This record gives sequence, structure tokens and C-alpha cells, in this order.
Amino acid sequence: MLTRDAVSLNGKVAIVTGGGGGCGKATSQTFAAFGAKVVVAEINAQRCKETVAEIKKQGGDALALVTDVREEAQVKRMVEETIKQYGRIDILVNNVGEMVGAKNGFVASTRADWEAQHAINFGHVLYCTHAVLPHMIRQGQGGSIINATTIEAFRGYPDGPVYSAYKGAVVSFTQSIALELGQHKIRVNAISPETTRSLQVDIDKWLTPETKHLEANWIPLGRFGDPDDYAGVAVFLASDLSAWVTGAVIDLSGGARAGGGWFKRPNGKWTQRPVLS
Ligand SMILES: NC(=O)c1ccc[n+]([C@@H]2O[C@H](COP(=O)([O-])OP(=O)(O)OC[C@H]3O[C@@H](n4cnc5c(N)ncnc54)[C@H](O)[C@@H]3O)[C@@H](O)[C@H]2O)c1
Repeated sequence: MLTRDAVSLNGKVAIVTGGGGGCGKATSQTFAAFGAKVVVAEINAQRCKETVAEIKKQGGDALALVTDVREEAQVKRMVEETIKQYGRIDILVNNVGEMVGAKNGFVASTRADWEAQHAINFGHVLYCTHAVLPHMIRQGQGGSIINATTIEAFRGYPDGPVYSAYKGAVVSFTQSIALELGQHKIRVNAISPETTRSLQVDIDKWLTPETKHLEANWIPLGRFGDPDDYAGVAVFLASDLSAWVTGAVIDLSGGARAGGGWFKRPNGKWTQRPVLS
């Protein structure tokens, strides 16, 4: 029978990339609340420092490491500093990802845009995973790696094909590396969010007073995501509750993925037509 210990992260050391903002910050704070020692690996020094200070104020243990995960040398330093401070690594959340330059479609995009997309959405997943694995393998006690993908990896994203392609690569990598690492009891899974309130997705700015009420119809569960929704799934994937889950992608969409192109009208009836007649 499972006990409360199954959800505890006591004694575990977790690195959360982009751990000082949005879903990453919620994950850092929640991991600490569940007992983990958390390394906040974050490019923004202010956010990094503040998140660690907040965790410590709540009685948690955390380390601020200002890191640009697009830079392999900085990723190596991040891992070295983690080992120096805490002696081990049990959990890695490859949370960083962004739609930089993704929104104007492919025809108008440039090689520099594609390279930026690669660096921010996929390259660092390889760097961080590769740098952490020797430690997890040497420790011999398994581990959990959690990658951020998106609902856009599972449907066409008309304005951002390169973003969705690299997030699709995150899914493929997650599945394949999970097979390679099963022998070491290292689990690798992904989280696939739909629109979630965060730093880069400032939903309240793009909902006008006239459209705000439509949020309830947009998503089957009646609201957009919250960083805590993401953190909850991350705790599940980091803890022993998911001991037999690997190579999986957890759909975090309030039912939007199940709904496909179907939306509930304000009158309660469902439609898949962009123009109502
Ligand atoms: N919010 C959404 O609606 C949504 C939807 C689908 C997928 N996602 C994915 O979820 C993940 C988290 O997204 P979010 O919306 O919470 O992001 P966010 O923009 O709110 O926060 C990202 C954090 O990462 C930091 N960061 C940015 N570049 C970095 C770098 N190179 N190195 C280290 N830190 C860096 C930022 O400073 C910030 O604190 C991303 O991978 C994103 O693609 C988000």
C-alpha cells in the first residue's frame, strides 16, 4: 500500500531550469514544500535570488544559480555547483522554453529565428540531460527527468511550425531516452501544457473586458492553466507516486486536447465552427 512517503521529496535534490519564473517558479517552490533541496537555475538574477529567498523564508532549502541553459559551459557549471553544494542530483526539470520569433509563420522567419528556437526549446534539454546523467547513474538510485513540451507538439501550430517542431523533438527525445535509461531506474517524462498564466503568456493582457467571460468556454474545465497546475504534475512525476511511469507525456490542458477543435458556446452547446451561423 502507498503511504504519504510516496509523494515526499525529502532528501532529494532537484534542478529546475527557468526555476525563477512562471511554471518553473511554482515548481521550485512546490518541490521545496514537498521536501526537496532545489537548485533554481535561472537566467534572470533578480528572479533567481527572489525565488530562493522565498523558499528559504518558507523553511525550505534552495540554491540560486544564475544560468543561461543555452550555454553548455554554464550548464556544466550548474551541475558542478549542485554537486558541490548538495552532493547529488535526483531530479532535473528541463522547464525552459519560449515562443521567441515563433509567431509570424515560417515564410517570414529566418535562419537566426530557427537557431534561436532550437537553442531555447531543445538544445538545452540535451545539454542539461547529458550533464546530469553521469551523476544519476553513478548514484545508482534512479532519478526523474521532466521535460516541458506543449499541446502545440500534438496539433498543427499555424504561426509557429519551428516552435512546435522542436517541442515535438522534446517528446521524441523523452520517449527514446526513457528506454535507454530504464536499466538505471531513471525515469524520463514530459508535461504538455495548454495556455497557462505565466511571464511569457500574460493571458490577462490579451483578454479584453468584452472577451474575458469566454475563458469559461475556451477550455472544457472552464479556465486557463495556472503555474500550480504544472507544479502538481511535476511533483507527481518527480515522486514515487509515478514510480512505474516513464516515456510518458502528461496532457495538462484542462481537457482542450481531448476537445480538439471543439468549443463550448456561451449557450452551452458545442461547436467546431469558427464562424457561428
Ligand atoms: N505558459 C504556457 O501557456 C505554456 C504552454 C505550453 C508550453 N509551455 C512551456 O512550459 C515551460 C514553462 O513556460 P512558462 O510559460 O512558465 O515560462 P515563463 O516565461 O513564465 O518563465 C520562463 C522562465 O525561464 C527563464 N529563462 C528564460 N530563458 C532562460 C535560459 N536561457 N536559461 C535559464 N532560464 C531561462 C525566464 O527568466 C523565466 O523565469 C516552457 O518550456 C514553455 O514552452 C508553456
